[in-house]
Amino acid sequence: MKFGHFDDLAREYVITNPRTPYPWINYLGNEDFFGLISHTAGGYSFYKDARFRRLTRYRYNNVPWDDGGRYFYIQDGDCVWSPGWKPVRTELDEYSCRHGMSYTIIKGVKRGIEAEAVFFVPLNTWAEVHRLTLTNRSRAARAFKLFSFVEWCLWNAHDDMNNLQRNFSTGEVEVDGSAIYHKTEYRERRDHYAFYAVNAPLAGFDTDRDTFLGPYNGFDRPAAVIEGKPRNSEAHGWSPIASHCVDIRLKPGEAKTLVFVLGYVENAAEEKWERKGVINKAKARGLIDRFATAAGVDAAFQELRAFWDGLLSHYVLRSGDERLDRMVNIWNQYQCMVTFNLSRSASYFETGIGRGLGFRDSNQDLVGFVHQVPERARQRILDLAATQFADGSAYHQYQPLTKRGNSDIGGNFNDDPLWLILSTTAYIKETGDFSILDEQVPFDNDEHTAQSHFEHLKRSVHHTVDNLGPHGLPLIGRADWNDCLNLNCFSNDPNESFQTTGNRAGRTAESLMIAGQFVLYGREFAALCRRIGKEDEAARTQEHVDRMVNAVLAHGWDGAWFLRAYDFFGKKVGSKENEEGKIFIESQGLCTMAGIGLVEGKVVQALDAVRERLDCDFGLLLNQPAFTRYLIEYGEISSYPQGYKENAAVFCHNNPWIMIGETVLGRGDRAFEYYRKIAPAYLEEISDLHKLEPYVYAQMVAGRDAYRPGEAKNSWLTGTAAWNYYAITQFILGIKPGYDALDIDPCIPPAWDGFTVTRVFRGATYDIEVRNPRHVSKGIRQVSVDGKIIAGRSIPIADPGTQHRVIVELG
Ligand code: BGC
Repeated sequence: MKFGHFDDLAREYVITNPRTPYPWINYLGNEDFFGLISHTAGGYSFYKDARFRRLTRYRYNNVPWDDGGRYFYIQDGDCVWSPGWKPVRTELDEYSCRHGMSYTIIKGVKRGIEAEAVFFVPLNTWAEVHRLTLTNRSRAARAFKLFSFVEWCLWNAHDDMNNLQRNFSTGEVEVDGSAIYHKTEYRERRDHYAFYAVNAPLAGFDTDRDTFLGPYNGFDRPAAVIEGKPRNSEAHGWSPIASHCVDIRLKPGEAKTLVFVLGYVENAAEEKWERKGVINKAKARGLIDRFATAAGVDAAFQELRAFWDGLLSHYVLRSGDERLDRMVNIWNQYQCMVTFNLSRSASYFETGIGRGLGFRDSNQDLVGFVHQVPERARQRILDLAATQFADGSAYHQYQPLTKRGNSDIGGNFNDDPLWLILSTTAYIKETGDFSILDEQVPFDNDEHTAQSHFEHLKRSVHHTVDNLGPHGLPLIGRADWNDCLNLNCFSNDPNESFQTTGNRAGRTAESLMIAGQFVLYGREFAALCRRIGKEDEAARTQEHVDRMVNAVLAHGWDGAWFLRAYDFFGKKVGSKENEEGKIFIESQGLCTMAGIGLVEGKVVQALDAVRERLDCDFGLLLNQPAFTRYLIEYGEISSYPQGYKENAAVFCHNNPWIMIGETVLGRGDRAFEYYRKIAPAYLEEISDLHKLEPYVYAQMVAGRDAYRPGEAKNSWLTGTAAWNYYAITQFILGIKPGYDALDIDPCIPPAWDGFTVTRVFRGATYDIEVRNPRHVSKGIRQVSVDGKIIAGRSIPIADPGTQHRVIVELG
């Protein structure tokens, strides 16, 4: 069952039934100011950091769900309704929600009144604009009241929920004309306030939530709205809100547009006050004026659209398969921008108060983003590197506001450092900017310790080399990519966190996933060293890599697939000898991507084992058989019921590892089959089962051992976005940036006749047509550039601004 449809031309998903199986959300804003918005206008806004600078309040896991948002109420006599259906839930005559690229348009029609709200964050602006157009579609003149509503969060979203004994006394507001200012704690250490304004005279307002709602009412029945009487309440403590009330009169056919601005302002200490107790509103007024007219708003909206036109022009596919095209050209790239921006911090599954930006997560996210805005990728890489320690290890996460690493969700994840090589080399290949290697970057943000970024990469490599276990394989530390395989944790206390509880000191537990990762990115580092003339470093690294390959072949092969690990006691994990968890996907993915044992036939065997044991209707499972009981020596992974999360779900992040592994073998049909199975656009028809947005990937889909196989959880913020984009664009479609060329090496289903891609690379545009007359999967017969046949399959880098026609014949 579907709840809407794709509109590819507009790059929108159009929801036409508000009763989706879960709130289907979108993101507003791309740099400093962000909003999450659901299809019924729920959600919240924040500046930079969803924990420390939360502007509006949201209630997690509430009943009913998705409570709190940017609400409009129309009081039309005895009929009260909201254009987004919620929170009032009056049945609408028409409803639609268009989630687009960084904007959302929600439209409701009731009794001949149409209300359309466009929500977006203008580029480079610390504000959300809500443009509300009210149209009288009836034949009679109409008069009604329009109420707006947002509830302020007292800045620190964690404290806001917990520290009620203080918070209920601190709230402060100011009302000035049609603008409502939230200034809690501004009198003391804060240099910032927020505001919500409208470009129309008010019939009244409210700033105290309980007065507006009435003490026992929910958002669905605010007393002020039901009675059509704003209370002009002034919040002192408790829960400050901003609600405007505007009288609307419309002749038949007439339309009126109101522009609401939800903004954030910072003032220097000496400029905080206009006069005693009155905040300096100059910057806010500037913002309000900018959007005072519909023309100002339209210009900003067009600018945003043009920005996305530009971003999405760097890789454009025409495959003949509209679902594939919409994934590659629109939604997957869009999701990559969102994961770049927010890592795993703020979604409808991540509260914004738990996790900041993850080291491994953000490094991996870059491979799906770097072609969009390389300068921002560069900065992110350097910020991440600055949270590395001198021994090459890294904080597992940092807060975006401070850029300081913290150990809130543990440390000592031994895969972390190696991802820095992936992100940095991806950046250099995309841009040709080797200067990033010379940037001076501190360790643990201590400027005195700064060394070149190249040195950081070197220490990443050496961190693995310095931490090998008894078989010469990498020690796993707290955990590798799979946060939940906690081989050194040994927790028997439900009040302990698997992530932070003290590890047993042990140098036994080894990871085959990191082994594969080391071969892959160690080689990548060696290649980089060779490219910049550091032959000695390259040779040294290559030796370590070769040694690792040998260690994997000697101790990491289980007969038909790669082992997953050795545990604390030196026992095999992911082996035919185990009762449960005989095979895991991660080591098959990383070791096959690295081509370990390719010539010996091990890559084929491992991938065939994946096919046989891990494949199901909804994708590739993380492990099999699922764990049916808690194993203290494995930790969190065995704490999940079968089929969920890291215990035998389809954990979508790692599926592309297998897709890429299949391309190493040249099996394009399998690679693409795995791609299709988890790509959301192909799942639209089963939205009722899948439950989450059909336009973005979810972290996991319940596996075949689960109660409801196929049901997804944790949409939006997942490394799945970047990895699938990387797999489809660079390995299946096979258009791959290199240091000195654009390399072409597709691996597609033999049934395909071909495809075309327009790729903007280092400023030049390549119109690439891949032809497959012999219906092969892989292998290139000939490549021509602008009519001339070239040797090999690497397209030389052309001058910026030029356009080239590339024809690739497979066979
Ligand atoms: C985390 C990743 C981790 C993955 C698998 C995600 O929730 O953000 O860092 O690799 O789970 O455990």
